[in-house]
Amino acid sequence: MAAYEYETHEYDVVVVGAGGAGLRATLGMAEQGLRTANVTKVFPTRSHTVAAQGGIAASLGNMGPDNWQWHMYDTVKGSDWLGDTDAMEYLAREAPKAVYELEHYGVPFSRTEEGKIYQRPFGGHTTEFGDGPPVQRTCAAADRTGHAILHTLYGQSLKNNAEFYIEYFAIDLIMSDDGAVQGVLCWKLDDGTFHLFSAKMVVLATGGYGRAYFSATSAHTCTGDGGGMVARAGLPLQDMEFVQFHPTGIYGAGCLITEGARGEGGYLTNAEGERFMERYAPHYKDLAPRDYVSRCMTMEIREGRGVGAHGDHIHLNLSHLPAEALAERLPGISESAKIFAGVDVTKEPIPVLPTVHYNMGGIPTNYWGEALNPTADDPNAVVPGLMAVGEAGCASVHGANRLGSNSLIDLVVFGRASAIRAGQIIEPGKPNAPVNLASVDKAFERFDGLRHATGGTPTAELRLEMQRTMQAHAAVFRTADVLKEGVELMEGVAAKLGDLHVTDRSLVWNSDLMETLELTNLMPNALATITGAEARHESRGAHAHEDYPTRDDDNWRVHTISRVEGNKAELSYRPVVLDPLTTEAEGGISLAKIAPKARTF
Ligand code: FUM
Repeated sequence: MAAYEYETHEYDVVVVGAGGAGLRATLGMAEQGLRTANVTKVFPTRSHTVAAQGGIAASLGNMGPDNWQWHMYDTVKGSDWLGDTDAMEYLAREAPKAVYELEHYGVPFSRTEEGKIYQRPFGGHTTEFGDGPPVQRTCAAADRTGHAILHTLYGQSLKNNAEFYIEYFAIDLIMSDDGAVQGVLCWKLDDGTFHLFSAKMVVLATGGYGRAYFSATSAHTCTGDGGGMVARAGLPLQDMEFVQFHPTGIYGAGCLITEGARGEGGYLTNAEGERFMERYAPHYKDLAPRDYVSRCMTMEIREGRGVGAHGDHIHLNLSHLPAEALAERLPGISESAKIFAGVDVTKEPIPVLPTVHYNMGGIPTNYWGEALNPTADDPNAVVPGLMAVGEAGCASVHGANRLGSNSLIDLVVFGRASAIRAGQIIEPGKPNAPVNLASVDKAFERFDGLRHATGGTPTAELRLEMQRTMQAHAAVFRTADVLKEGVELMEGVAAKLGDLHVTDRSLVWNSDLMETLELTNLMPNALATITGAEARHESRGAHAHEDYPTRDDDNWRVHTISRVEGNKAELSYRPVVLDPLTTEAEGGISLAKIAPKARTF
């Protein structure tokens, strides 16, 4: 093998990824005086959080009564009782604090007449523990909330002396012989040099893996890089079968049209012009949770009431809303609809279709962001030196289905929590343990093998095969036969990683090689997804299994743990955390309130 030279950098903390979670973690670490590096494959403000539109959930109560207990209840119900109760309490309780911090850092939120942060309704967010009307809980900066947050957090991180390594691709985690994470090996894309980041804590904030599918609202950079590195390190992924389809991706293009459009009064219609959500969800209508709305849309299309020449999509209507409201509250999606669907939203409906949007599963963590490696004896065993936050992680607050606007709050609450925890366990400035050079060699060996891959399958061809297989076999509705075939096909697709062909052998701006590395990251995520889906014999949240159409709490209120080795995912299960952080007597939520029940809307 060719010897590669590399430069070593020593930090207390290395955060991989500069989206909302990565930047909030970076900022929190740097504020405490931890020597913090952020390594990111794209410029921070181009991270996928920039595309988050509708807003960030927190029970500020600016538009009417609200409290964290109602938010927690909605999150528990939204998760279809698969979320970890301690983490869901932490999320709902810390959310207002985290949003006010963002405000003080400088996020330009939209405002009410009185100058408070503007909040809009979003699906599944309610009052009175689901018995009252929808609540306006989603704090918004027009329909560019992620953009506003990302720019603010990047500026604040720079102000606090965090050091950024931009357009560096993380190749692999560096592991000690006894299973601790010691750092990460990176490739600098613009000059072909290599960099070993040694750290007491590596925080993976690499986002989701939406690009395992053919059509996704996710950026092309969402390639599950953290999950890929973790799987190669012999560590597990959790609950990967739960993939969220957002009801309103633009038909054909897949771009997101925010749920805020329905929050502001938009509604869906079928080919008969019927507002069909009134039939399926008489109480919450178009503001039912996403998994449910996506299923209803799919049923309308299947039953012959889809719109368009092929009857294969649905209309989202906004033209009844005042043009000034559209311009003020929804300028971004008005522009996207024009560019990607050729539609003037003040006059015509937008053609939409449920589109892959979010991965509820990811690297298992506790609510401090510490990565877990569950064993039979200890389902909550922590991996020394590793954290995961944001969509890459699975805390698990979203369980089987995430509520809209609970993603941005997850990013900042758990990015912040990881920094609080790191401050407790890291001694700043203390020299790092020497890195395991055998692990560095192994990472270079894999890199070099891919760089010189001379098989018969071009990367783009194999990626497309994976994407089409996932799209067809792990969709909104799933059946036993389709999933079984999907697992067989995906194992065949994954086996072809050994037959890749890379054409460009250079090290400078080699997008052929970078996409190949990304494909090796996407693949374990995809395998774990379809294998976990095939094994889960119930329907829960985003996993709608037509042969097992009901939720089965007796047998399946458990997290799926997947360990991917080669072209197979091995499954085991871990108990859901049922205890909240505080009791009712301490001001917490009553256990009776969050006991499992039928999920109706
Ligand atoms: O619809 C949206 O604006 C997306 C928000 C989210 O995924 O939380």
